[in-house]
Amino acid sequence: MKVLVATDKPFAKVAVDGIREVIEGAGFELALLEKYGEKANLLAAVADADAIIIRSDVIDAEVFDAAKQLKIVVRAGAGYDNVDLAAATAHGVCVMNTPGQNSNAVAELALGLMVYAVRNLYNGTSGSELKGKKLGIHAYGNVGRNVARIAKGFGMDIYAYDAYCPAEVMTADGVTPVASAKELYEQCQIVSLHIPATPETKESINYALLKDMPKGAVLVNTARKEVINEAELIQLMEERADFKYMTDIMPAADSKFTELFAGRYFSTPKKMGAQTAEANINAGIAAAHQIVGFIKDGCEKFRVNK
Ligand code: 3PG
Repeated sequence: MKVLVATDKPFAKVAVDGIREVIEGAGFELALLEKYGEKANLLAAVADADAIIIRSDVIDAEVFDAAKQLKIVVRAGAGYDNVDLAAATAHGVCVMNTPGQNSNAVAELALGLMVYAVRNLYNGTSGSELKGKKLGIHAYGNVGRNVARIAKGFGMDIYAYDAYCPAEVMTADGVTPVASAKELYEQCQIVSLHIPATPETKESINYALLKDMPKGAVLVNTARKEVINEAELIQLMEERADFKYMTDIMPAADSKFTELFAGRYFSTPKKMGAQTAEANINAGIAAAHQIVGFIKDGCEKFRVNK
């Protein structure tokens, strides 16, 4: 039984060691394909794999066609928009994620980006504090809840909107639920995005939603670049010199943002919210255990395709 770890953005070594221990401990073989760059390298490596552990790596119909022995793909992380679920199902392959395992890392980076924004990108000028500011958490899942927990320590006034999360879950955390995204953006000077990339959310963060954010607005995106309507965000930031955009998912129009919005736009060069040893260990080892459980016992917990 061959398990392939295919990560263009590699896990920390300590996480790979942990994955190996679980996989080899189960009597399986581990193969490692890191920083593979070209898709052709991935296609070659999956040929004899029974299971694959991935991160944001794109697993589409072509990959499933090339992976004749494949039984399971585990996305070590939360968002599985990089996997073609219909193609997986058509090929009889189970797809899972590892929800919650990397969410503290992403939440810590979101707060770090907020501090960076309100301190004027550490340029030495007088900035402001997070304490007492209204924070809007857009989607109250695993990352959103961790953001709320940490933001409480900063003394922020926390609001959240999530169409799928009961209001009681938010109020139990000391978070004020609001009835719509519109209301969240109208009320909160700082908004942190935690929605998944789906056909419904694609480019849903647009001019109409952002235009009513209070003065000194900061939008933090550690979710997905696809949820932003980039052309409309650019239009808004051209009209509003007080608006800042901080992200760890480089926009398609990065060079335009950089050129137009110096001092109020920042993107990490690579998606790095979940890029900590701890998150890699948690998500990677969870993925390894899920593969062993699926192959040995048929356990389908965390399956995301039908
Ligand atoms: C996720 O969906 O789990 C995060 O966006 C992290 O993605 P990554 O594994 O590519 O860092």
